[in-house]
Amino acid sequence: MKLGVVILAAGKGTRMRSSLPKVLHRLANRPLLRHVVNTSNKLDPTQTIVVYGHGGEAVLQAFSSDEKIIWVEQVQQLGTGHAVDQATSSLVDVDRVLVLYGDVPLIKVSTLSSLIQAASESDLALLTVNLENPTGYGRIVRDAEGVVQRIVEHKDATSEELEITEINTGFLIADKKRLIDWLLRVDNNNVQNEYYLTDIVELAVADGVDVKVAQPDDSTEVMGVNNHTQLAFLERYYQLKQAELLMQQGVALLDPSRFDLRGELIAGQDVQIDINVIIEGRVELGDGVRIGANSVIRNCSIADGVQILENCVIEDATIGAESVIGPFSRLRPGTKLAGRNKVGNFVEIKKSDINEGSKINHLSYIGDSLVGKNVNIGAGTITCNYDGANKFQTVIGDNVFIGSDSQLVAPVKIGEGATIGAGSTITTDAPPEMLTLSRNKQFSVKGWKRPVKKINN
Ligand code: UD1
Ligand code: CA
Repeated sequence: MKLGVVILAAGKGTRMRSSLPKVLHRLANRPLLRHVVNTSNKLDPTQTIVVYGHGGEAVLQAFSSDEKIIWVEQVQQLGTGHAVDQATSSLVDVDRVLVLYGDVPLIKVSTLSSLIQAASESDLALLTVNLENPTGYGRIVRDAEGVVQRIVEHKDATSEELEITEINTGFLIADKKRLIDWLLRVDNNNVQNEYYLTDIVELAVADGVDVKVAQPDDSTEVMGVNNHTQLAFLERYYQLKQAELLMQQGVALLDPSRFDLRGELIAGQDVQIDINVIIEGRVELGDGVRIGANSVIRNCSIADGVQILENCVIEDATIGAESVIGPFSRLRPGTKLAGRNKVGNFVEIKKSDINEGSKINHLSYIGDSLVGKNVNIGAGTITCNYDGANKFQTVIGDNVFIGSDSQLVAPVKIGEGATIGAGSTITTDAPPEMLTLSRNKQFSVKGWKRPVKKINN
């Protein structure tokens, strides 16, 4: 069976009240449509078509790297039937067509597989769900024997039909040739004057098709996003599911409802994560890593035994084993700590290699630097790496001690074992093993009086 997937994504999303097309709004920092495309890819379809409309350019741009997607524009949104019909001529070499929705992000692969399975002996299968409050949804109309007859939209339903609690999720799979034929026969004689995809059910039944039905494990899977309230609800649901999975893997989340994973987390044993931590992109945590409250960690590799204390922001960094970072540290892209390092409060590091055992404990900026082993960088040290036009490197040898409040004006080298006196501005290379300092001589003024405030009359 060769599967073609059609993802409907042409809707305006008026209720988002946003200039961004609805399917580009983000869940776990990925566009809604990205979730659907990823799920669809897992079914290994022969073709994937996205029907786009409103704000199409932005959608195309966001997915420009996805060469496999076939884009079909639906200029006017004349209904779900019309939308699928736009796509069918692009479906070549496909036997079955599965319809997905760009604004229903959490549909599971296993649910779609059971829908595909349900259709194995029929030319049409629907995904339905029973809702306590079915308001707004299309209802599944069955006959006395329980055989599916048709779908009636809420707006077109009689008061009797409105009592039906089995609703249409919109997800369906159909034989391609028959689908094309049914869509040709769908009209827009209904309250909304739209070409309803749902009308194919009645046509299929008239053609003698035994319409099959599958159901998801959880109705949240088939919930769409029409406004920010629904988006936030699905975000929380998704985050809790991820948190549960991580806890099952042994990660200690101090409060799963205050943890956000917007990407992929690979965690070792005995990892503990305090509240309000955000993990983004791809993050690896070794055994025994602890992350303090309110930290944001993006695309990092953090080795065994590392402690990230509270309120750190760490991005594109590698942190070697047994290091202690924070509180209030900022590690920017290209930071590499070899291991057993200490980085303290209000320290910013960018594009620098810091070798084993070196410490930068307070209020410093280290950029474009190569720092040796067992270096101690005093409070308030700044590498002046930028002259307003170009960036330069600072090289600090092993066992160097940099006194507090020093500026190292790059390009500059501090030789192994050197000591820099506090308050120095170092503009030329400092030799190894010596004390180097640049400092005005201290003097005191005898008999000097502090000015006093003049009294105005
Ligand atoms: C549709 C179903 C309804 C079902 C409900 C589930 C139809 C006629 N009705 O109703 O039975 O219970 O979904 O949520 O199918 N879209 C396009 N182009 C269009 C129209 C819609 O791409 O011309 C896309 C929308 O972006 C949206 C999806 O199709 O993602 C559903 O469209 P919408 O108008 O929201 O359908 P509903 O009225 O909710
Ligand atoms: Ca809808």
